[in-house]
Amino acid sequence: MIEKDRKSFSGGRRYKNDDITVYWKPDACVHASYCYRELIEVFDPGRRPWVDMEGASTERIIEVVNMCPTEALTWKWNNTERNLEVGPDQTNHVIFRRPELAGEDTEDTEVREQPVLVKIMYDGPIIIKGDFILKYGDNAREMKGGLISLCRCDSSNQMPFCDGTHRKIGFEDV
Ligand code: SF4
Ligand code: FES
Repeated sequence: MIEKDRKSFSGGRRYKNDDITVYWKPDACVHASYCYRELIEVFDPGRRPWVDMEGASTERIIEVVNMCPTEALTWKWNNTERNLEVGPDQTNHVIFRRPELAGEDTEDTEVREQPVLVKIMYDGPIIIKGDFILKYGDNAREMKGGLISLCRCDSSNQMPFCDGTHRKIGFEDV
């Protein structure tokens, strides 16, 4: 029997099955849409609550949460000892978002440039990730290790950024 748990935590909500807890931070979402495109059975923005932990296997939920390009979706095992065995490739595991637990040297000040990745999401925004300068009108902002999501549907209320409106209006690539 899967326990239903949709409690709040600071900055978001959490959803639990027998094996894992998925954390959802709406403020960190860039509407890249990997989650519902890959696994609508679990992540359905049109449903309340929008996450149904009974919609797929634990392995598949982990796989899709790991695709989220931000910290909007993260996860961890309910068995805390098991969390120590998780590899760093499982990027959206909350333990590796906390350098002190991942064993990373937090004093390391060496600057490593991050190549820029530009990804056009089908029926969605353009995701830009890495080190770059963002210019919009007269403003320019240096983005170090940045991640932005630019609107392609021309309907965002937060131009030039995507605010998720593309999904509501059914924007489609032709
Ligand atoms: S950033 Fe994308 S994958 Fe992550 S929660 Fe938001 S829509 Fe889903
Ligand atoms: S592409 Fe997301 S609001 Fe336009």
